[in-house]
Amino acid sequence: MPVTFGESNVTVIVATRISRIYTQKPTVILAFALLIPILTIPIIITLTHNKLDSGTTLTTTTTTITAETTSTIVTTMQTNDVTTHLTSKTTTTENPCASSSLRWKTAGSTVRSDSSSTLSCTHLFIDSDDTLYGVDKEHAYVWRLPTGHTNSITVAGIPGSKGNDSFKLNYPEDVYVDRHGNIYVVDSNNHRVQKFINGTSSGITIAGTTDSGGCSLNQMYYPRGFAFDPSETFMYVADRGCQRVLRYRTDSNSSTSEFVINRDTTAGNSAKQLNGPWSIHISSSKSDELLIVNHDGQSITRWAVGDVEGSFVAGLPGTSCTNSSCFHDPTDVKLDIYMNMYVVDGNNHRVQMFCKNSRIGMTIAGNGTIGTSTTHLSYPQGIAFDSKMNMYVCDTGNRRVLKFDKF
Ligand SMILES: *[C@@H]1O[C@H](CO)[C@@H](O)[C@H](O)[C@H]1NC(C)=O
Ligand SMILES: *[C@@H]1O[C@H](CO)[C@@H](O)[C@H](O)[C@H]1NC(C)=O
Ligand SMILES: *[C@@H]1O[C@H](CO)[C@@H](O)[C@H](O)[C@H]1NC(C)=O
Ligand SMILES: *[C@@H]1O[C@H](CO)[C@@H](O)[C@H](O)[C@H]1NC(C)=O
Ligand SMILES: *[C@@H]1O[C@H](CO)[C@@H](O)[C@H](O)[C@H]1NC(C)=O
Repeated sequence: MPVTFGESNVTVIVATRISRIYTQKPTVILAFALLIPILTIPIIITLTHNKLDSGTTLTTTTTTITAETTSTIVTTMQTNDVTTHLTSKTTTTENPCASSSLRWKTAGSTVRSDSSSTLSCTHLFIDSDDTLYGVDKEHAYVWRLPTGHTNSITVAGIPGSKGNDSFKLNYPEDVYVDRHGNIYVVDSNNHRVQKFINGTSSGITIAGTTDSGGCSLNQMYYPRGFAFDPSETFMYVADRGCQRVLRYRTDSNSSTSEFVINRDTTAGNSAKQLNGPWSIHISSSKSDELLIVNHDGQSITRWAVGDVEGSFVAGLPGTSCTNSSCFHDPTDVKLDIYMNMYVVDGNNHRVQMFCKNSRIGMTIAGNGTIGTSTTHLSYPQGIAFDSKMNMYVCDTGNRRVLKFDKF
């Protein structure tokens, strides 16, 4: 399951646990709900529950670590027959658009490269333990970098060995890890998606037909990216070569898609079309709404499942340019809980932040000019955020992954 730096699913987990314990106690649930708005990413949740005689006291202690301060909130309430001591240590992720000072350092630090400086990074993924995953496209493998480590380990594919059997990959483009630790890989040049059950090195094809690219429903053509809904029921694949997005059930072994966005497979810049779909993001609060990067169409479109057309939310469809309204070959998109949007603007060598509902981007990484210093990017591609909202970027042209600390 991805980390979503405060998207509401984490809160839901808290609420679920609470409601399971207190199904008999609606007043307690309500009281806890008042605390929910200040909670975002729980790091440690410890619950101890003692059933006592009636007329005792409920004490709720919440320790909140903000970006700058640590505070403790203690709430004491009377209930009939329950005493609960709850300690919830959380890190808040404040809205970066609420204060101009809550942004990211402009200099990145290299968290991943390789000894021969040939890292080929296209997409990143961070799980709920803040473990970073990435694909190395040219070397055909997926790597994992646990928090605080400098050496990655290979978790799928055989480094340096492209192929089409179940152990190999051929230009992997994107990676996702589900709540069971199963690894999914967009295996682009094999025109398929591979699923590696946690702990196995032999993948199962769950979408597309190996080595047979095409636009029928059991095929894809150079897929680029994918996204999963928060319940991990559905996988949506950006099938770039066929100008469409395909949907599959994650529990199905049928490689045939069951649903398609843009069935006519022609590229275009109208609201009814896609143009080089490259990456997809699904917000945890709107599981049927996709944000799709039109790499070749220079735009980001929002598309609700079932709609016949999307709506453009950023970029000038069909026009590549460099000002704050524009993209030049965008490659990835993410949303935060405040619905601010982050777009990797590949050929403008920058990452743009769009505050909720704004179409004017602010540069938060890179400076628009290609370069090799820690404040420059070179044809960046993937982006991911950890639970503290630190930002990781595939600085693809510089063959490194940069981390930009949130402050
Ligand atoms: C897979 O790769 C092998 C050797 O590289 C090749 O001969 C074969 O045609 C490819 N396709 C399939 C479907 O096996
Ligand atoms: C994946 O498998 C390992 C080894 O069996 C296990 O320790 C780990 O908990 C699993 N991951 C998940 C997310 O279930
Ligand atoms: C899908 O394949 C896996 C591995 O071969 C198997 O364990 C699982 O039962 C299959 N699921 C269905 C729904 O057929
Ligand atoms: C950005 O550039 C495009 C293309 O040249 C132009 O149409 C648009 O008005 C410009 N927007 C801003 C905010 O300067
Ligand atoms: C970006 O960096 C280049 C090279 O260091 C510099 O010349 C340029 O002024 C910078 N541009 C901005 C907008 O800061």
